[in-house]
Amino acid sequence: MKKALLSLIWLVAATSFAQNDFKILYGPYLQMVGENEATIMWVTSGKALSWVELAPDDGSNFYAESRPKYFQTLFGKRSLHRVHTVRITGLSKGTVYRYRVCSKEVLDEQPYFIKYGKVAATDVYGREPLQFTTLDSDKKNIRFSVVNDIHGDNELLKDLTCDIRDRKDDFIIFNGDMVSHMDSEQQIFEGFLNTSIRLYASEIPFYYSRGNHETRGVFSSEFIKYFPTPTELPYYAFKQGPVFFLVLDGGEDKPDDSFEYSETADFDRYRTVQAEWVKQVTASEIFKQSPFKIAVIHIPPVKSTWHGPLHAKKTLVPLLNDAGIDLMLSAHLHKYFYLDAGQEGCNFPILINSNTHVTHIDASEKEMNLEVKDRQGKVIETVIFQSGK
Ligand SMILES: [Fe+2]
Repeated sequence: MKKALLSLIWLVAATSFAQNDFKILYGPYLQMVGENEATIMWVTSGKALSWVELAPDDGSNFYAESRPKYFQTLFGKRSLHRVHTVRITGLSKGTVYRYRVCSKEVLDEQPYFIKYGKVAATDVYGREPLQFTTLDSDKKNIRFSVVNDIHGDNELLKDLTCDIRDRKDDFIIFNGDMVSHMDSEQQIFEGFLNTSIRLYASEIPFYYSRGNHETRGVFSSEFIKYFPTPTELPYYAFKQGPVFFLVLDGGEDKPDDSFEYSETADFDRYRTVQAEWVKQVTASEIFKQSPFKIAVIHIPPVKSTWHGPLHAKKTLVPLLNDAGIDLMLSAHLHKYFYLDAGQEGCNFPILINSNTHVTHIDASEKEMNLEVKDRQGKVIETVIFQSGK
């Protein structure tokens, strides 16, 4: 009886400690970094009122003055959440900003009273504050890297992307299948996000191209919540320096009525609607005037007789041919291929990056240099493009 009582006391103490152990569980990581905006995302262990404090990169102490605070709001009201999405607008292009994220725990929420607990924040005194740089469409030289098909292998992701900071990449592209399916918040963070955050994603943004495996699992409908885009869809566009990026979503690979999808797939219609969006974007002046135009899509519309890529070839490729795409970056096959322009109905070259390779790209207005490396850092291939402009 005495032993049972002691166990009960221990259980109560442990539970009460867990409730008080409020902290930033995951993040922060950058999303939707554009010329004039950036979104900071993080997750806390409990519900919180959260904000981002922003400071210029002027060498001043972060505590030199009160820094402007940015909150997530909905219809005029500040949000109380666990998953924090703070979109900051009105920024200047090509500019470094320092930031701190803060979350004040919500202990009790009543209609006319909210009781707050302690504040969890990123460190600005034990280390340099976190920082990010906005995009700049006038930047002369840019560099970025691409990985894909990581399927939750953190060691592989680490090997391929551990030098992103040293390279001074502007950003990294995750070209799909970063996990094998989306089961839960914990699984996507432990599957690859925590590794990317630890290595760079708090300061160097990633742009995510959804793979077919991210459409699978009970948590797959949460994709856009954790990886928001300017279109609020998994397909979107952005420009950095001389390169315009068209990030596409090829959807699933099998026919929509395949039993494996349990009557939930509607990707033919999705790709058809997406094609209309591609038409609009490729008709824009900013697209047409870009020295280089890159399409990013997880499933290549070539080297396959499966329905998904065949349908993408029918709906998207003619538009990309007409638009004068310079390069397509693809994934999915877990094997490296480089197809010159003119193959399989595509008037543009296609680089299909292997799951165990990283592709580094340096681009100026005149030239684009590609370098494909394996996990050990050995160069597999280099390709040089000249701009047609
Ligand atoms: Fe895939």
